[in-house]
Amino acid sequence: MDTTTITKEDLIEALNEDLAHEYQAVLMYTSYAAMASGIHRPILKTFFEDEIPEELAHAQFLADKITALGGTPTTDPAPLTLADDTDSMLRQVMAAESETIERYVKHRRAAESYGDFGLAAELDDIIRDETQHKEETEKLLRTLDT
Ligand SMILES: [Fe+2]
Ligand SMILES: [Fe+2]
Repeated sequence: MDTTTITKEDLIEALNEDLAHEYQAVLMYTSYAAMASGIHRPILKTFFEDEIPEELAHAQFLADKITALGGTPTTDPAPLTLADDTDSMLRQVMAAESETIERYVKHRRAAESYGDFGLAAELDDIIRDETQHKEETEKLLRTLDT
């Protein structure tokens, strides 16, 4: 996206891309909370379940904002291929959260360029949440490795 000439339609499109990935995250965490197996299952189940309310809150915020801008919130999640072992699950979560942070940073710049500083501030909060998700996943991966 060319951030020098951001239109309202560009912003709606960007936020719908984010919304599709929030729904993808809800599906991923819900599935992995159910699928996690082995000796670490209790920890993993709680860990994955705890992410779901925050991702849903992000989705709700995005749907509200898209509507406020005059758009229609998507109901299609971004595509998801489930991993089948704990290590792959956590590495997939790490990759997804990293990509999500990059996407929000880009869209935060777009919001600022468009002149919607309220949206930029909201996206800062979401970037903080996603960074915490990524760091907690990194810590869990390290704990399970040892
Ligand atoms: Fe999120
Ligand atoms: Fe997240």
